Amino acid sequence: MNINQLLIESIEKLKKKKNITPQLDAELLLGFILKKPREYILIHPEYQLTKPQEIRYKKILERRLNHEPIAYILGQKEFYGLNFKVTKDTLIPRPETESLVELALCSMKHETYNKKNTTIIDIGTGSGNIIISLAKKIESENLLHASCFMLYGIDISQKALTIAKHNAKKNNVADRIKFLKGNLLEPIIKNVNCYMLHASCSMIIIANLPYLSKKIYSETMPDVKKFEPRSALLSGIDGLDHYEKLFQQITLLKKNCFMFQVSCFMEISPEQKQKITKLIKKYFPKANIEFQKDLAQKWRVAIFEI
Ligand SMILES: C[S@@+](CC[C@H](N)C(=O)[O-])C[C@H]1O[C@@H](n2cnc3c(N)ncnc32)[C@H](O)[C@@H]1O
Repeated sequence: MNINQLLIESIEKLKKKKNITPQLDAELLLGFILKKPREYILIHPEYQLTKPQEIRYKKILERRLNHEPIAYILGQKEFYGLNFKVTKDTLIPRPETESLVELALCSMKHETYNKKNTTIIDIGTGSGNIIISLAKKIESENLLHASCFMLYGIDISQKALTIAKHNAKKNNVADRIKFLKGNLLEPIIKNVNCYMLHASCSMIIIANLPYLSKKIYSETMPDVKKFEPRSALLSGIDGLDHYEKLFQQITLLKKNCFMFQVSCFMEISPEQKQKITKLIKKYFPKANIEFQKDLAQKWRVAIFEI
């Protein structure tokens, strides 16, 4: 069959499924099999696939019809203009998470950070998308005096960390980031001296931890529930178990170190705004709390300084 015939046939099948973009998905899958960009698919409708190509295409189309996310089929996802390898062990980076990178960058550009050592920790690093994007920006924007920033990515999943390290190498920032395995801040707390936190005057904590409540998780679309790691999404009944544990650890860390400034950037689910405000106030009564909306105008990031 040629590209045009396959596209027509696939789009008809994909149209019957919910939450799928038939034309785009079929083009991406065909491009993947032919190792060509999407534009090639559009310009060469007459291109005749070989029999093995056609068989491989039909197999991956079947996976998509079964709701497997495109990113897992292609094994990659773009985030903040960079390319990341993703597997079933990592969450697929979401566009709304790019605002975490933007906000942290904005704060790093603040002149107080330029004059001192700053430790930047991405907790629940997954594919490494957040910390790698920051490392790239630090490098490209000389004004940040890259040598003053120490970067860490932490995850409880060794398999996710393997992917994060691969992505750091692929994006040429492997020597700028240390990846650690452990429960939230535990690897840092256990080795405070080793990570030179006493010499470090300030810390930026960025976290896109699991934050779905039991109810929201049960209602998510099959692409997510069937394929993405549950351990990367669900966090107790109200979705805030991970953040509460993290706040306890930050309290402990602040007690043991002499840092005078900790800035936190945390991705949340829009309906958690009030509950997380209460939780932050419980652990850090003097914290100055702000929230940022995402492009869909939904509350997405909690920002506070302690
Ligand atoms: C929502 S995903 C975010 C992944 C990535 N940062 C992103 O933005 O796409 C949450 C990540 O937190 C990790 N995680 C879950 N529990 C954790 C814990 N107790 N300590 C450290 N990481 C944890 C998961 O393995 C997962 O990679």
